[in-house]
Amino acid sequence: MSAVPDPSFALTITAPGPGHGVAVHDLVAACPPLDRNSLYANLLQCSHFAPTCALALQGDEAVGWVSGYIPPSTPATWFLWQVAIAPSMRGQGLAQRLIADILARPACAGVRFLETTITPDNEASWHLFRGVAKRLGAPLAHETGFDRDRHFGGRHDTEMLVRIGPFAP
Ligand SMILES: CC(C)(COP(=O)(O)OP(=O)(O)OC[C@H]1O[C@@H](n2cnc3c(N)ncnc32)[C@H](O)[C@@H]1OP(=O)(O)O)[C@@H](O)C(=O)NCCC(=O)NCCS
Repeated sequence: MSAVPDPSFALTITAPGPGHGVAVHDLVAACPPLDRNSLYANLLQCSHFAPTCALALQGDEAVGWVSGYIPPSTPATWFLWQVAIAPSMRGQGLAQRLIADILARPACAGVRFLETTITPDNEASWHLFRGVAKRLGAPLAHETGFDRDRHFGGRHDTEMLVRIGPFAP
């Protein structure tokens, strides 16, 4: 007798909609050290910025999230704001898949660079973005993005600006 797949465990990756705002907000809250943004900010990501964000759903449950946008002043750059993978889903390549899904969309047809910021001690994040650069066959450079004292007034660790590219569409 063969097992019947349970649809509640099927993983789907999709652009978000405003109906996902609360689930995204809760997933980010469950993924320290990410900053929690307001629910309203998550709703804007899930509506205005939906074409450059991606959500992984297992059944109805949000298990992965990548937010990002194309800054108006740099149309060849996709800026990744946050990536949050539910603890139970880590180490399976889901973050890479969400990023690849966004970069393959028509909204990113003109994108040749990926930028993000990472705190110096976020090992998992550095591994993730080195892996992304490798898969894109592009160099990775980094410099201080927002400084702990100069920009955050001592309230937040320095965020290093990471730039991957240029890469082929
Ligand atoms: C960072 C995070 C998004 C990684 O998600 P993930 O789905 O587990 O990552 P992937 O499975 O796609 O792994 C990508 C690479 O990172 C490596 N990696 C993942 N977690 C790691 C860890 N804790 N330590 C070391 N390497 C790690 C993987 O081995 C993989 O390497 P490879 O490309 O050489 O195979 C996830 O751990 C997370 O949500 N953390 C909390 C929130 C956070 O810190 N977000 C990033 C800041 S915006």
